[in-house]
Amino acid sequence: MSSTNTASALDADLRETGIALLLEALYAHHGYDFREYSRASITRRVHAFMGKYRIDNIGEIIERARRDKTFLALLISEISVTVTEMFRQPSVFSAFRDHALHALASKPSLKVWIAGCATGEEAFSLAIVLEESGLLERTQIYATDINPVSLDNASRGIIHTSKLKRYTTNYHEYGGKRDFCSYFIVREEASFIEAFLKERILFTSHNLVHDGVFGEMDVIFCRNVMIYFTPELQEKVLALFLESLSSEGFLCLGSKESLYLSGVEHHFQILKQGEKLYRRKKVEQGAHYVA
Ligand SMILES: C[S@@+](CC[C@H](N)C(=O)[O-])C[C@H]1O[C@@H](n2cnc3c(N)ncnc32)[C@H](O)[C@@H]1O
Repeated sequence: MSSTNTASALDADLRETGIALLLEALYAHHGYDFREYSRASITRRVHAFMGKYRIDNIGEIIERARRDKTFLALLISEISVTVTEMFRQPSVFSAFRDHALHALASKPSLKVWIAGCATGEEAFSLAIVLEESGLLERTQIYATDINPVSLDNASRGIIHTSKLKRYTTNYHEYGGKRDFCSYFIVREEASFIEAFLKERILFTSHNLVHDGVFGEMDVIFCRNVMIYFTPELQEKVLALFLESLSSEGFLCLGSKESLYLSGVEHHFQILKQGEKLYRRKKVEQGAHYVA
């Protein structure tokens, strides 16, 4: 190996060790466990963060995160990826409406879990879908995330007004027929989701890495979250979803996520392959869950 190659291999090793140290520090000092997230994606995000805030070594990130809460929040947002939108990938919501709502309509009450809800847009979208199908009144939506800043925004029901145009387009692509803006109190900069939608949603902290089942759900949406996890962590989270779903409950994953070849695949039927919409098979009374 040439001396240039040796130096760059050493550099890569040092960078890898730095990331590992940062992840251990985030866990030990702050309780955020990103150790089982895909290392390539974490490394990209940490480097982007360093570029954005002109930081040139990982030790400085660890140090600043310990003494500066705002800095820590920025770092967590960068690493956990907060991108979302209302009616993101509109065909998923149409598939859910067309393939799941009929079965759900016969239930006296419904529990929906949005895992990895970011700033709430997905939860607001589902609340609208359920409202338009006459099911919202009997539904409790639990929307969870690890990011306290996102959860705070979500529970205030705030949407940046500049985003409403795009969300309206998504809503119409989903097949929505109403005046989308009527679901908001629209102000110049920030708009607020109407109270009758917001009050059906409980935003709360839940970490898919180490928190357990918190109720039997009829529907679980977890989109664009597991994509950042290692295959082993994905397996663990899918087992948690299986354990959390009622018999014949519905599970929706992101477009790049799947149950294919997972340990729980045989417990589900595919309702709409392209939309990653699945239904748990009927659980016979007395049967036990085996992943
Ligand atoms: C890219 S956003 C996806 C938001 C939304 N589900 C969507 O598809 O528009 C990923 C979200 O997952 C959250 N997240 C990441 N790791 C998590 C974990 N271990 N437990 C719960 N949420 C997590 C992030 O904080 C972020 O809000």
